[in-house]
Amino acid sequence: MRRKLVVGNWKMHGSHAANAELLAAVIGARPYGCDLAVCVPYPYLTETAASLAGSDVRWGAQDCSAHEQGAYTGEVSAAMLREFGCRYAIVGHSERRAYHAESDLLVAQKAQAALATGITPIVCVGETLAQREAGETDLVVKRQLAAVIHLLAHCAGEIVVAYEPVWAIGTGRTATPEQAQAVHAVLRAQLQAATGHGERMRILYGGSVKADNAATLFAQADIDGGLIGGASLKAADFIAIARAAG
Ligand code: PGA
Repeated sequence: MRRKLVVGNWKMHGSHAANAELLAAVIGARPYGCDLAVCVPYPYLTETAASLAGSDVRWGAQDCSAHEQGAYTGEVSAAMLREFGCRYAIVGHSERRAYHAESDLLVAQKAQAALATGITPIVCVGETLAQREAGETDLVVKRQLAAVIHLLAHCAGEIVVAYEPVWAIGTGRTATPEQAQAVHAVLRAQLQAATGHGERMRILYGGSVKADNAATLFAQADIDGGLIGGASLKAADFIAIARAAG
């Protein structure tokens, strides 16, 4: 039985005051029946770690460099994130693939860099609307995941995967539970074939998950939790989504 995981992706939102209020509410609503984490902007890692210390709520970053160290202005290494107690790093989010031209190979290298320091990469895959309408969904997500599986080889079983259809992110247009489940099943079969651990690996769904649709999504056989953007910024919504996960 896979324990569900719900991860908040704050994206580029937050302030000292808003973060303190949000994290206090999340802590105050414990215990949860699922694993819970927040992935915050880099400058807020210290205060997030301080707020969550001693609780079972984890934290992480939204990206990490593929490089260990060096002349890479503006980048943050996985080892640095580790020093701030990060448990997770999102890699390959569609916003980074789209706005920063991140390739499948770079995403795989970032996942590798994270794992090398003991951080669990949350590897995002997902198709655009045009790709879905062209019937290419399975092809696209399998190609994105294959790059990671290929580079990580025997460590590929240690990642978390997030299926995030690009057309559902921040749009209020959620994949139906059936649409999401179908892709999750494809991804799980791919993970199982490649690693032999597909049955214990967690595959999250992301894309306009809200308090009122979380339960039906999480009820699907291969949906092991969610990667939550907008709704993770509102304590009541994020807590309700976590409750829906168990
Ligand atoms: P959303 O974002 O929940 O606001 O659609 C999800 C994500 O991008 O991780």
